[in-house]
Amino acid sequence: MTKSLSGLFISFEGIDGAGKSTHIAGLAAAFSDEGRAVTLSREPGGTPLAEKLRALVLDDAMDPLTESLLIFAARRDHLVSVIAPALRRGDVVLCDRFTDATFAYQGAGRGFDLKVLATLEQWVQSDEGLLGDPAGNQPMKPEVNTVIEPHLTVWFDLAPEEAALRLAGTRIPDKFESQPIEFFRRVARGYADRLQNHPERFARIDAFQNREAVWQDVRQVFVEKGWLEGATCHERH
Ligand code: TYD
Repeated sequence: MTKSLSGLFISFEGIDGAGKSTHIAGLAAAFSDEGRAVTLSREPGGTPLAEKLRALVLDDAMDPLTESLLIFAARRDHLVSVIAPALRRGDVVLCDRFTDATFAYQGAGRGFDLKVLATLEQWVQSDEGLLGDPAGNQPMKPEVNTVIEPHLTVWFDLAPEEAALRLAGTRIPDKFESQPIEFFRRVARGYADRLQNHPERFARIDAFQNREAVWQDVRQVFVEKGWLEGATCHERH
C-alpha cells in the first residue's frame, strides 16, 4: 500500500449468500460512532460508469476475458474516482468485494487464466496512474509501481450448500447466483487459495455461525488491529 494514501482500505469477500452485507453496515456504523469518515462502496460498481459495467457483467453472457476486462475497467474507474480520493482524505473505505472476487469468480469459478488476472491487477491497481495528474496524462509504468490493495480483506467463509440454502427464495438470482453448486465450490477454493497466498492481509470469518456470533468475530478482528475500540456500550446486531 502506498504511503501517500493514508486512510484504511477494507474489502469484504465470500460466495453469494455468505452474509457480508449486514456486517459491512454494522462496521460503517461502528467507525462513524468513533468519529471516522466512512466511504461505503461495492464492486463491480461504486461509480456511475462502473455501475453500468456491473449491470452488463451480472446480466449478460460473455466470455471470461471480456468479463474480466469489464470488471477491471470498472475497478479502475472506481479506484480513480472514489477509492484513491477517499484514502487520501483519510477515510475508512469499506468495499463490498474487490480483486479477490475476480480471482475467485473469474479465475477459480470460470477457470480463467490467473496469470492474466495478475497482470491486469498490476496495471489497474498501479498507484502511479492514480497519483498522477487528474487528467490521467501521466504514463503508467506497472513494473515499478506500488499496487493498491486492501489493508485487510474480511473473508466470510461458508460452505456452498449452506449459502445456497440461505439464498433460496430470497431474490431473483443473477448470472452468478444461478450457477450450479460446483461453481461455488470452485469459487470457495479460489478464496482459500487467495488467503494462502496473502495470509497477512486476510481475516477468515466462520460464517456458518449465527449472525451475532459472526458479528462478534468480525468486530474482534478490528479491535485486535487497534482500528476500533474494544469496549462497547451498545451492540448493533
Ligand atoms: P454481490 O456482491 O453478491 O452483490 P448483491 O448482494 O447485490 O448480489 O454481487 C456481485 C456479483 O458479482 C457476485 O456474484 C460476484 C460477482 N463478481 C465477480 O464475478 N467478479 C468480481 O470481480 C466481483 C467484484 C464480483
